[in-house]
Amino acid sequence: MRQSSQISKLTGLCAGFAALSIFALSSVSGTANATDAAPMAPAAEAKAPAVPGKPVSDPAAGEALYNVGDSTRGVVACITCHGPKGQSAVGTWPKLAGQHSAYIAKQLHNFKEGARANAIMMGMAMSLTDQDMANIAAFLSKQAPSQGVAQNKDTIDLGQSIYRGGIASKGVPACAGCHSPNGAGIPAQYPRQGGQWAEYSNAQLLAFREGVRKNSAQMTIIATKLSDQEMKAVADYMAGLH
Ligand code: HEC
Ligand code: HEC
Repeated sequence: MRQSSQISKLTGLCAGFAALSIFALSSVSGTANATDAAPMAPAAEAKAPAVPGKPVSDPAAGEALYNVGDSTRGVVACITCHGPKGQSAVGTWPKLAGQHSAYIAKQLHNFKEGARANAIMMGMAMSLTDQDMANIAAFLSKQAPSQGVAQNKDTIDLGQSIYRGGIASKGVPACAGCHSPNGAGIPAQYPRQGGQWAEYSNAQLLAFREGVRKNSAQMTIIATKLSDQEMKAVADYMAGLH
C-alpha cells in the first residue's frame, strides 16, 4: 500500500518539467558537444552506407530476425532474452521496446567493435550486418515502450532530485536534461530510460564508471561522480518514470 502511494505520487509528477529540462539541457549541451560530438562524427561517417542519406531499413525483416534468428549465419533469436516485442522479463536483460533506432544501431555497432564490452552481446552482434542492425532497430523503435515501477520508497526522493536537478555540489548535471523529463529520451543520441529495469540501469552506470562501457565520454564523466547509493537511487527512480 505504501509503495503504491509512492508510485501514484510518482505518476502524478511524471509530466510538467519541460521548463526545467530546457534549462538543464542548455546548461549541459556545451559540454556535450565538446566531449562527444567530435569523436562521434567521424565514426558515423565511416559507417555511412554507400547510398547517401538515410539507410533504408526494413522493420519486417528486423522483426523476423529478432523473433527467430537465422541459424544459417549464426544469428541467435533476440527474443530469447529481450522478450516479445522488446519487453524483457528480467532485470539482467534490458528492455528494448520503444528505444530510439539510432541508439540501438549504435549499441550493436559498439558491441561488435568492442567499445562496449559485454561477453554475451559481443557474440550476438558479431554475426549481424549493418543492414540487420538497421532492420532490428527499426522494428524495436516502433514497439510500445514498457512501463515499470520504482521499488524502493526510501530512495525515491534522492533518485528524483538527481534525475531532475543533478547534484550541484559535485557538478552532476540533471539526467532529465538529456534523457528528457519523462524518461523518453531525445532522439537520436539520448536513449529512453523510463521503464527500464533498475538492475540493468544500475549495472550500466557502474560499467561507465569502471570503464567497461567506453562508448560515451559524457556518461563516463557523469558516472565517475556518482556514488553507489546515488546510482541505485536514480536507477530505481528511472524504472518508474513514464
Ligand atoms: C543470451 C541473452 C541475449 C540474447 C540472445 C541477446 N541479448 Fe542483447 N543483451 C543481453 C544482455 C545481458 C545485455 C546487456 C549488456 C551489457 O550489460 O552491456 C544486452 C544488451 C543489448 C542492447 C543494448 C541495450 C541498451 O539499452 O543499451 C541491445 C541493443 C541488444 N542487446 C540487442 C540484441 C539483439 C538485436 C539481439 C539479437 C540479435 C540480442 N540482443 C540478443 C542479452 C542478450
Ligand atoms: C549530457 C547529456 C547526458 C546527461 C546529462 C545524462 N546522460 Fe545518460 N546518456 C547520455 C548518452 C549520450 C547516452 C548514450 C551513450 C551511448 O551512446 O552509448 C546515455 C546513456 C545512459 C545510460 C545507459 C542506457 C542504456 O540503455 O544502456 C544510463 C543508465 C544513463 N545514461 C543514465 C543517466 C543518469 C542516471 C544521468 C543523470 C545522473 C544521466 N544519464 C545524464 C547522455 C546524458
